[in-house]
Amino acid sequence: MRKSSNPFLLKGYISAELFCDRKREIEVLFANVQNGIDTTLISARRMGKTGLIFRFFDQLTEQGEKKPIYVDIFSSRNLSDFVKLLAEAILLGFPDKTTIGARFLEFIKGFRPLIGYDPLTGQPQIQINYQSAQEKEYTLQGLLNFLEGQEVPIVLAIDEFQQISQYPEKNIEALLRTYTQNLKYIRFIFCGSRKAMMINLFSNVKRPFYATTQYLMLEEIERKTYAQFIRDKFSGAGMTITEEALEMVLDWSLLHTFYTQSLCNMLYYIADNQIELATVKLACVELLKRNEPVFYQYRQLLTAAQWNFLIAVAKEGGVKQLTAQKFIAKYEIGTPANARRISRSLVEKELLLEIATKKETTYRVYDLFLARWLESEY
Ligand SMILES: Nc1ncnc2c1ncn2[C@@H]1O[C@H](COP(=O)(O)OP(=O)(O)OP(=O)(O)O)[C@@H](O)[C@H]1O
Ligand SMILES: [Mg+2]
Repeated sequence: MRKSSNPFLLKGYISAELFCDRKREIEVLFANVQNGIDTTLISARRMGKTGLIFRFFDQLTEQGEKKPIYVDIFSSRNLSDFVKLLAEAILLGFPDKTTIGARFLEFIKGFRPLIGYDPLTGQPQIQINYQSAQEKEYTLQGLLNFLEGQEVPIVLAIDEFQQISQYPEKNIEALLRTYTQNLKYIRFIFCGSRKAMMINLFSNVKRPFYATTQYLMLEEIERKTYAQFIRDKFSGAGMTITEEALEMVLDWSLLHTFYTQSLCNMLYYIADNQIELATVKLACVELLKRNEPVFYQYRQLLTAAQWNFLIAVAKEGGVKQLTAQKFIAKYEIGTPANARRISRSLVEKELLLEIATKKETTYRVYDLFLARWLESEY
């Protein structure tokens, strides 16, 4: 194994050096924050939303004018989880040794919480026991008002925001909207990957957040830019990659950030100094082999008809007309109604990705590794 650490990250964010591009998106985020506009950041899974937020926060911190706070609500199931995660994020943003952090600890003590620190990560953990539903709402309002009251400009990013539409509390959107609409010091970034859900939250006239934010859609990194980044990272480690091999990396991974990173990470790991087409092929096979247990798991969770449908879409690469007679007949799917029902359930399970443009909607197998594996296995 190589001694220096792998420059192709598969998780999170470390530094500008290991982060490719996103200059335009960062400019948009800066401009929005500067102009008092909240942002809704949307992309397919694993395109780089969370990484972008951390990269932006890094620059925001360097500038020193605004304080970033990041909260990931993926694991939250209800309002009290949300409040807990927000309180922990505030404490992480303002450690208890700082003036605001100390004030926050005092403030939160009013809710009689249990405060501890995760023994492994050292991150703060806050447990609050509520007497009533009103008390939860009151606490949420309290947290936001506390932040506002510090009169420090804050950018609060809420990652996996679509999660709130799964909460049993029905009024959560309205509550959040009410509590956030008059905040002067806090700008929000609402981030999520369930595009339909997110757009419904922010563009449905009947919903509280209607037209309150500006959308930022995160797409693939531009091919030339990503190619240069990959060349640079390999050459920085004393390795070279042929143009032919590089083209294959970008084609095979469809420039979908996580998959491109994964393939490069694997190449860095297995290759000697020179990366050629054959090395890339080897890395692809190895990646798919490592992910096989996941694919078997998928298969177990699906009906034969759903699995067959996924194979069909994978074999086609992308499908525009899921109910087209030609497609249905070729893969023995049955009737257009069948195709519609199966595709709806696969989209719901995030196994199929719907890419809608002005002109048309294309469907792809969401997990690119699964797509490549199905393509080659069947
Ligand atoms: N601009 C970038 N340059 C290099 N690597 C990146 C970049 N953006 C993201 N990554 C890497 O790509 C992977 C996916 O990124 P990230 O987790 O940010 O995606 P995401 O859109 O938040 O995904 P999810 O929807 O699953 O939360 C991670 O390994 C991350 O380190
Ligand atoms: Mg993310």
